[in-house]
Amino acid sequence: QTIFRDAYRPYPYHIPHLWLRFDLGLAKTTVRSRFTVQTEQPGTPLCLDGEDIQLLGIWVDGQPLKPEQYDLDHHALRIPLTQASHQIEIESICEPAKNTTLMGLYQSGQQLFTQCEAEGFRRITWFADRPDVLSRYTVELVGDKSQFPYLLSNGNLIEQEDLANNQHRALWEDPFAKPSYLFAIVAGDFDCREQVIQTQSGRSVTLQLYSDKGDYDKTEWAMQSLIQALRWDEQRFGLELDLDRYMVVSAADFNMGAMENKGLNVFNAAYVLAQPETTTDQSYQDIEAVIGHEYFHNWTGNRVTCRDWFQLSLKEGLTVFREQAFSADRMAHGLTGAAALSAQAVKRIDDVSLLRLAQFPEDAGPMAHPIRPNSYEEISNFYTATIYEKGAEIIRMFHTLLGETGFQAALRTYFDRFDGQAITCDDFMQVMDEQYQAQFPGLTLAAFRGWYEQAGTPKVSVHLHYDAAQQRACLTLTQQNPPVGIELLEQPIRPKAPLLIPFKLGFLQPNGTPLVVEHEGQRQHEFLLRLDQEQQQFHFEQVSARPILSLLRDFSAPIQVDYTYSTSDLMTLAKADDNAFARWQAIQELAQQTLCAPSATQADLQVLITVWEQLLQDKQLSPAYLSRALALPSVRQLLAQQRPMDPHALTQKHRHIEQQLAQHFQQTWLTLYQQLTQRLPTQYRPCASDAGLRALRNLVLKQLVLAQHPDAFALAQEQYQKANNMTDQWGAFNVLVHYAPPALRQQQLLQFYEQWQHNALVIDRWFGVQATAPYFDVAQAQALSQHPAFHLRNPNRARALIFQFCTHNITAIHTEAGYDFWQQQVLALDALNPEIAARLCRVFDNWAQYVEPLRSQLKQRLQSIAAHQPLSTNVSEIVRKALTIE
Ligand code: ARG
Ligand code: ZN
Repeated sequence: QTIFRDAYRPYPYHIPHLWLRFDLGLAKTTVRSRFTVQTEQPGTPLCLDGEDIQLLGIWVDGQPLKPEQYDLDHHALRIPLTQASHQIEIESICEPAKNTTLMGLYQSGQQLFTQCEAEGFRRITWFADRPDVLSRYTVELVGDKSQFPYLLSNGNLIEQEDLANNQHRALWEDPFAKPSYLFAIVAGDFDCREQVIQTQSGRSVTLQLYSDKGDYDKTEWAMQSLIQALRWDEQRFGLELDLDRYMVVSAADFNMGAMENKGLNVFNAAYVLAQPETTTDQSYQDIEAVIGHEYFHNWTGNRVTCRDWFQLSLKEGLTVFREQAFSADRMAHGLTGAAALSAQAVKRIDDVSLLRLAQFPEDAGPMAHPIRPNSYEEISNFYTATIYEKGAEIIRMFHTLLGETGFQAALRTYFDRFDGQAITCDDFMQVMDEQYQAQFPGLTLAAFRGWYEQAGTPKVSVHLHYDAAQQRACLTLTQQNPPVGIELLEQPIRPKAPLLIPFKLGFLQPNGTPLVVEHEGQRQHEFLLRLDQEQQQFHFEQVSARPILSLLRDFSAPIQVDYTYSTSDLMTLAKADDNAFARWQAIQELAQQTLCAPSATQADLQVLITVWEQLLQDKQLSPAYLSRALALPSVRQLLAQQRPMDPHALTQKHRHIEQQLAQHFQQTWLTLYQQLTQRLPTQYRPCASDAGLRALRNLVLKQLVLAQHPDAFALAQEQYQKANNMTDQWGAFNVLVHYAPPALRQQQLLQFYEQWQHNALVIDRWFGVQATAPYFDVAQAQALSQHPAFHLRNPNRARALIFQFCTHNITAIHTEAGYDFWQQQVLALDALNPEIAARLCRVFDNWAQYVEPLRSQLKQRLQSIAAHQPLSTNVSEIVRKALTIE
């Protein structure tokens, strides 16, 4: 059943206040709800959502209803009403221990958690479970004092008391009206880290971090991150925390990264627990980012929320953008000038790499959708790279077009106008457009709307005409927005309107230094072009030499650029482009040319060798930047652009070139490895600059192994043994497991397991390192899935073994046995957790893009999944859409 954006109708009732009482039990929890409904259209039946819960009783204005007085099915409860206002009471039961979907109220360990976004509240009680119904919540929690010493919900703790029979009770009141998706309760035993700080305006707020007993030491970083996020939002956006109490709770079982429930964030343990011995630099950075993300939602998401789920990117795109800006500022912290810019560029490189790896393929496959979709079958399937990552790029373009000051001004208008409301992306766009028109009289953002309306990655072709005699350059930019996904099936194909694309470019001299030119009265070497036609010409004067173009600087729009560079121009950019992002891009393009050439010649390889030599000699580059610049595009990244995709051939070629390059620099690697070892401080700090050193050293260690340097494994073992932090230990462990001879590998695997068997997050890594190893095949994946520590029910564990294997182990998975394994796991997961199953199903939703016979083999697996009974709406939407495309 498809839901359409056009079908939106306001909810006919207001529900100003909701009282909830929970009698908590792992096996059985009783929920009593009481609320008043008010309408301007008396006589409208009250329609409430509910799923997988047992009804005990309904009272309207104090009178119990008989079953014939209401209408109940698997999804809804309809109560006929007559007056403008009624009081409703409902009593029901849910079974947290049996709830493997991890939506609604569920058990994790010995604790109880809720996850309500998007439609989980209906698994707790019957209610108007939609984001445009905003109510004030009062929540009473009753439970056994030993089993649930902590009883938490949103807002402020009003009362707490002991009851008979070792029970106790807590009463919570959230001062802010909110939609049901932001509701949360947590019950159980925890360690609690607490810190009281003053906000900008001088209010005292209590910050609390709850983790499993014994994990207290692992929440220090998250607490610091929370304080950093709070300060950053005050300083950069002038947004202050509006609560007296802000809680973050770690959960071992969680479907996604984390959830921004008002004042009571629930986090996947992987995004909150950290300590040097068990947590990599990447995880430290991810924790800071996710803590920031959920914190920033308090304004962009909670104070101003979404009218309906088609508007999801209103809060997610904006919040990811804010999160990215926060992380970039953190990475540049303490740096100035070029060093700060370079640190920010590293963050941009990582964000753009993710976009290209996860979102571009989505935008070219059967699930392609605009950042504001027009329809869906299952909303959980739309927590996508498009809504999040492309959504953030759209916000970034507003920022680029308006500038920091203009963007800030627009956001202030946004909060002034919409605080406390549930609104649409159109409302957001309207505010941005008003600001734009004020700044640029005569211009509008009308052509920007398309970014919300159409799917697909636009392609911009660039053509340069240079007239040496007149010292003039003319650039012709042409944008193409071809149909994608199911749009291809529409007859006739609807043409898409040209988009407004901010296109940043720079001019370089043939020697690589900046070339100042004139354009519209400005003399500079970098310009932001405003492309809003299908084809547009831009003229530049006083162009003293044939320019080298540095295109789409900082990735100023989420598009693909088509421009035929000469190898020598690319090499100049790779060596000297003063825009660090564009320089990295040139390096990537050169690597890609070699990796994708039908048969890479010695000359192709020599180009890369020259570029790497220059990089390795460039003393200006930070280690973090170098670690990105020296990383070849992965097979997955290359596959994403190849048509038809030939994973086996590409893997072979990739390995060959990777090895040849590694070998060429054998001696350099050894020297560099030793230098980096010298430079690394003995005491671990998770800061960006030290992380850059470690990232580069791990890259170099891998190069030594690939080069088959005689000392490589000894160095890896030494690094492993001396490591006082997981980044160093992991870098060594990873190459040992992936490349060392079987005996050594086995010994390492055993040792690592022994050392970390009591730390679930580290054991996830242990599963993951095997799943992605070149030696690892389907039989081994089957065997490892029988390991006593493997649990399909725990999403982190499933992701560590099953997802990693299906996504990253390209040679093993693209076999008949691999595809069978994938199909089995999708169906096994679907019986437990449809949201996670659908994500696994999506790994091959782009089956039609593979070469034969893989294509037909995949199609057959998708057909079997589609035919399976029962099948969740989640998985069924994916397979149905995948199979409509040929
Ligand atoms: N709003 C959350 C975040 O972006 C994601 C929650 C999604 N939940 C889900 N079951 N899909 O941080
Ligand atoms: Zn979010």
